[in-house]
Amino acid sequence: MGNDDRIYCYEALSLIEDALADGYRSRAPVPEFADQAEPAPAPEAAPVPARVPLDDSLAAVAAEAARCMACRLGAGRKRSVPGQGPARPLVMVIGEGPGSEEDKTGLPFVGPAGQLLDKMLSSIGLSRDESCFIGNIVKCRPPLNRDPAPDEQAACRPFLDRQLALLRPRAILAVGRIPAQSLLGVKDGIGRLRGRVYDFGGLPLVATYHPSALLRDEGLKRPAWEDLKLLRSLLDGLGA
Ligand code: URA
Repeated sequence: MGNDDRIYCYEALSLIEDALADGYRSRAPVPEFADQAEPAPAPEAAPVPARVPLDDSLAAVAAEAARCMACRLGAGRKRSVPGQGPARPLVMVIGEGPGSEEDKTGLPFVGPAGQLLDKMLSSIGLSRDESCFIGNIVKCRPPLNRDPAPDEQAACRPFLDRQLALLRPRAILAVGRIPAQSLLGVKDGIGRLRGRVYDFGGLPLVATYHPSALLRDEGLKRPAWEDLKLLRSLLDGLGA
């Protein structure tokens, strides 16, 4: 069987799977929100690839990330942090990159910020065990927890795109300035980017503050709660 035939078969199987799952996996349009003050800017980031090679898997992404030396972060890692969560999540939560605890354990968001992230998700009926896959823009720890550089983000992007294509979440929650800027291809601060729904290659995306920022500044909890309610209402609108 040629490659085109294999892709054709895969797409046909995927459609059947969608139909059997009562549309659970199909991408519904982003609902309109009456209280959106202004239209969301069009994202400049490349859309998520619609096709997954037949032989790709989350395990393959994790194995490749573990030996990746595509950028300088590879040389400093103890463990890569490919992400964690169910294979068919409702939401992919995307953070910035691993910190020191994550670098030791290979798991995302395990420190105090992770505990707060779990509480934030739980407040809208989501969890990393059942409904959210937690990933990051870069899979290896930036030294001294500095921001991942643009070339490091770009080098790691194919892993994220493959994960999105495999996971096929119904929505994305970008936590923090770096994931919001990186995914939307803009330079605005998170204070400007939060509070609305973006169309990310056909997927609704909500950006909010990073839980570490909420630990530093209690005053950010209120707007973050508004963002979480926005995510919840868009999931409800999608019937998810
Ligand atoms: N902060 C992040 O952005 N990601 C993690 O995995 C942990 C902390």
